[in-house]
Amino acid sequence: MRILVTGGAGYIGSHACLRLLQDGHFVVAIDNLDRGHQTPMDMLGSVYPDSFRFVHSDLGNTKIVLDTINIHSLDTVLHFGALAYVGESVEQPLMYYKNNIASGIGLLDACDQAHNGAGISRFIFSSSCATFGDPSDDMIPVPEHCPQTPTSPYGSTKLQMEQILIDYAKKRELDNNPIALTILRYFNVAGADTSGLLGEDHSPETHLIPVAINAALGRRTSMTIFGTDYPTPDGTNIRDYVHVDDLIDAHVLAMNTISVGQCEAFNIGIGKGYSVREVLEAVRRVSGVDFPIQDAPRRAGDAVALFCDSHKVRTVLGWEPRYTDIDAIVSTAYSWMLSHPDGYAE
Ligand SMILES: NC(=O)c1ccc[n+]([C@@H]2O[C@H](COP(=O)([O-])OP(=O)(O)OC[C@H]3O[C@@H](n4cnc5c(N)ncnc54)[C@H](O)[C@@H]3O)[C@@H](O)[C@H]2O)c1
Repeated sequence: MRILVTGGAGYIGSHACLRLLQDGHFVVAIDNLDRGHQTPMDMLGSVYPDSFRFVHSDLGNTKIVLDTINIHSLDTVLHFGALAYVGESVEQPLMYYKNNIASGIGLLDACDQAHNGAGISRFIFSSSCATFGDPSDDMIPVPEHCPQTPTSPYGSTKLQMEQILIDYAKKRELDNNPIALTILRYFNVAGADTSGLLGEDHSPETHLIPVAINAALGRRTSMTIFGTDYPTPDGTNIRDYVHVDDLIDAHVLAMNTISVGQCEAFNIGIGKGYSVREVLEAVRRVSGVDFPIQDAPRRAGDAVALFCDSHKVRTVLGWEPRYTDIDAIVSTAYSWMLSHPDGYAE
């Protein structure tokens, strides 16, 4: 296939580019580098000079996106490009709606006009478990039919983009020019590619596993658990951690399984929850460092337990995660962070 990867310079997008290139696809990554990195784009370009291109642009620039799709005869879009911090979205909601919705529509306009109006035929959207907000106890593990009631502007942008895409897919059906649409709602993505080429380098870093690894490596003085009195076995929040390579597997399976005219949503997580304390203990075991941990009061808006009912993705797509043990997931992240003390050093 000939694939446009939006947000390709980011954490998950760069891993997707690598996997698609390894599988023999032609890949164009597009990214405004607001949160992504030039270094992995240069690395992929030097390893795959014939099948990889990087375009430095905002997705809202419909003309550039359209030209990119047409020039390279692209047929498939994997749409990772978004701002993705829950807390930041509460402080700057307009920036989130503008970027994740308005730029997303700019991208869709280009997809619609591509190939003299024939359009892009396959689209996979990175949605999030944040669209579910704080599900009731009877919805844990979280199935696809769980009510979607996001509690942050970030979650709202993901839910609204899902609806926009569903409406767009219906329009394509009416035009007798159907599209294959897959919505993947990720739970917590973690880990790094095992070749050592790519890893997770967010600034600021807010994800639990890299933050804890930074504490273990002495790159921060300690780390804090927000809330130790939740109604869970050890009092801390429970989350579902899916390895980035397993997550990309789900995209590859969706690309090959969902056919034009179909529109499917899947929750992507391993279906098992780990508490914050369990994750920190895993980081201590993997690193061998007993780094200090501080307990602090709960943060507003944090769901007690969020883990995925992965039945649908396993049965419909045949997805089977390779990483189901938290130590194994942490180990891949630890190896990359150990060998990259300054991340991509940009
Ligand atoms: N990391 C997770 O645990 C997680 C969980 C659920 C969903 N997601 C979703 O997965 C996707 C990728 O997440 P990530 O962790 O790799 O984030 P990331 O910030 O590392 O990557 C996102 C990339 O998109 C780019 N981008 C953002 N807006 C853009 C725009 N308007 N034009 C061009 N480029 C733009 C950024 O520069 C960045 O490189 C996001 O859509 C995110 O919402 C991530």
